[in-house]
Amino acid sequence: MYSEKVMDHFANPRNVGEIADASGSGTVGNAKCGDIMKMDILVENDVITDVKFKTFGCAAAVATSSMATEMVKGKTIDEALALTNSAVAEALDGLPPVKMHCSLLAEQAIHAAVEDYQKKHAKG
Ligand code: FES
Repeated sequence: MYSEKVMDHFANPRNVGEIADASGSGTVGNAKCGDIMKMDILVENDVITDVKFKTFGCAAAVATSSMATEMVKGKTIDEALALTNSAVAEALDGLPPVKMHCSLLAEQAIHAAVEDYQKKHAKG
């Protein structure tokens, strides 16, 4: 039911963990299944230099968070905000339709971490 890429990112998730001095953190959950995802980002000069995640969730949630971290690392915060769950799912060679909602967690967690960063660094 899952593509090889999904299985690979699920079995060997990239960027798992936490960043102690994170510039921004976001935690999101899916009310229906109860799965939770936390994303920490380190930002320097508007660029995401490091990103780590922890996901308590299904295989699709783990794989999409892993892929999402790979996709935003080295990107500007604006580019990270433009990341969509369908782009993440596409990069994983697709997800079963019933699992598309899981990829939303990854998009929302990245956005939440960036928004936290922006709040903390708002000028004035
Ligand atoms: Fe909950 Fe996939 S079933 S995120």
